[in-house]
Amino acid sequence: QQPPLIDPFARAITYLRVSVTDRCDFRCVYCMAENMTFLPKKDLLTLEELDRLCSAFIGLGVRKLRITGGEPLVRRDILTFFRAMGRHLDSGALDELTVTTNGSQLEKHAAALWEAGVRRVNVSLDTLDPDKFARVTRWGRLDQVRRGIEAAQAAGLRVKINTVALKGFNEDELFDLVDWCAAQDMDLTFIEVMPMGDLGNDYRVDQYWSVRDVRARLEDRFTTVDLAERTGGPARYVRLAETGQKIGFITPLSHNFCESCNRVRVTCTGELYMCLGQEDRADLRAPLRAHPGDDGALIGAIREAIAAKPKGHDFDYSRQRADGQVSRHMSHTGG
Ligand code: GTP
Ligand code: 5AD
Ligand code: SF4
Repeated sequence: QQPPLIDPFARAITYLRVSVTDRCDFRCVYCMAENMTFLPKKDLLTLEELDRLCSAFIGLGVRKLRITGGEPLVRRDILTFFRAMGRHLDSGALDELTVTTNGSQLEKHAAALWEAGVRRVNVSLDTLDPDKFARVTRWGRLDQVRRGIEAAQAAGLRVKINTVALKGFNEDELFDLVDWCAAQDMDLTFIEVMPMGDLGNDYRVDQYWSVRDVRARLEDRFTTVDLAERTGGPARYVRLAETGQKIGFITPLSHNFCESCNRVRVTCTGELYMCLGQEDRADLRAPLRAHPGDDGALIGAIREAIAAKPKGHDFDYSRQRADGQVSRHMSHTGG
């Protein structure tokens, strides 16, 4: 048994988010540029390398593994990788194997995800209006995602909807989203839009709708009861007394949650990012490829990187500018 991963601020790293592809079949306006250049295949970690990497982290105490992208379910053969990770659930080394997806391919893959040991999926969905959906994703089809969600539930998967709170875009849909999730027995989490990717004229500032404000608006109609329960992610949850449903709030801007950070992320090229909002990173692909039969160098590189995890992000819109902006796209590190 290896000693656990502890960072300089005494935070134990138990949650790994892994992006398995930079590609996506959508181009959400706050996530990607319309004309993205995607990486050549040789730069991506192979499924075998992803397996070694995740297994090394699990050996170092990671208990929760989330697969993201880009859109993870557009990667060919990705179910093979999910099935491989399922062995860590069987052995008890891993508590949870989950996926964050745009839902477009869920109809096809839901049953296989369940078979692999996935029990919960997070689906990104910002609007219930098909035209607005096509606008925010630049061409996505809402009906396809809704069929994916139905398939996920039919397969037994618990679904959480992730909604990015966007001023002037989905403010008017707050209660529709809440009611829709209640009707389908899904949890719902609101996320503050973060200044990442190409920002143009700081336009994220104009899109920013504080999730504190979302909560205040909800309280016009519902009584919110704080829940102590955490899922090991950044969301804080409340229960709506009137409907019993659970609503989450992810507030990197209005309430920084970095002090309880338990996670790091790996990009599809094997770069370990210590924080979503910082550039600090370490290359894990080089030790993976240099020593195909031995994970010693890989584990050394992981430990060294964690020993320098920064305290937190510097995102800030308070001066009407997107301070602390990070120029890489969200699809690069997978959110
Ligand atoms: P649960 O297991 O359901 O709690 O999921 P989660 O919230 O950990 O994962 P999910 O992929 O649903 O995360 C939703 C979004 O929260 C991400 O896409 C990011 O936008 C944001 N987020 C997650 N972790 C961090 C973090 O460490 N820092 C910041 N700033 N944002 C984060
Ligand atoms: N700010 C906040 N959330 C974002 N996401 C993508 N880009 C951003 C951003 N700039 C969210 C997506 C999805 C998750 C993977 O990340 O909506 O829920
Ligand atoms: Fe694709 Fe998700 Fe980014 Fe939208 S937010 S472009 S669905 S990776």
